[in-house]
This record gives sequence, structure tokens and C-alpha cells, in this order.
Amino acid sequence: MIVAVFSRADDDCRIRGRDYHQFDTGIAVGFLMLRATELGLVAHPFAGFREKKAKEILGIPEEYQLIALIAVGEKADVLHDLLTDNQKETEKERPERKTFEEYANINKFS
Ligand SMILES: Cc1cc2nc3c(=O)[nH]c(=O)nc-3n(C[C@H](O)[C@H](O)[C@H](O)COP(=O)(O)O)c2cc1C
Repeated sequence: MIVAVFSRADDDCRIRGRDYHQFDTGIAVGFLMLRATELGLVAHPFAGFREKKAKEILGIPEEYQLIALIAVGEKADVLHDLLTDNQKETEKERPERKTFEEYANINKFS
């Protein structure tokens, strides 16, 4: 299954010039991914698609932004031949995570 994630600014709040639709859609996607995982599925978001073409195929109106597609499925026992060696390698274990210090600042940006 491929879930198409799309939203538009008019459906969400705009506070002092800040649009929140992408933020809120991201929260929803996070929960979707957690629930998929809880069900024993794998959910991989991807941004590598042609927005115009995908919207055309899915009939999504112009004013919406197609933010991401999420491939949801069961983990295969055997890796597909279409995967590159690098992709096969990254399927074996999760990519290394950044350390807390790399993405968080305390009190001030540094
Ligand atoms: C916004 C977003 C866009 C992504 N786009 C792609 C993509 O186009 N192609 C791809 O192979 N992985 C893409 N990824 C990465 C995978 O979905 C996934 O996060 C990665 O394989 C690491 O999985 P893990 O976080 O479960 O370890 C994207 C991830 C995010 C969050």
C-alpha cells in the first residue's frame, strides 16, 4: 500500500505568518508510522516522486501540496534484486542515529 500525504495551508492554522499544515500533517504521519510498526508492518516515507504526475494520477486538486508518499507493507524475507548493494546493506540494520548534541541546542542555538 502506498499512502499519499497531502495538505493545504487553508485547512490549518496560520499564526503570525507561520503556516502549520505541514507540521500538523507530519505529526499525523508520525502516528501512522508508529501504528503501522505496532501492527508489525514497515512504513517508509519517500520524497523521490514527481509531484505533478502523482497528483494527476491520484486526482489531487492543484491547491494541495503532495508532501510525501509512504510505502507500507510487510518486511520481505528475501531482499529484492532491484535493490542496489547499498540499499541491501541499509536493510540489514537501521542507519546510525545522530547524537543528541548534533540536533539539539540547549538555551541558545549553537
Ligand atoms: C521526508 C522523507 C523523505 C524520504 N525520501 C526517501 C526517498 O525518496 N527514497 C528513499 O529511499 N528513502 C527516503 N526516505 C528514507 C526512508 O523512508 C527511511 O526513513 C529510511 O530508510 C530509514 O529508515 P528508518 O528511519 O526506519 O531507519 C525519506 C525519509 C523521509 C523522512
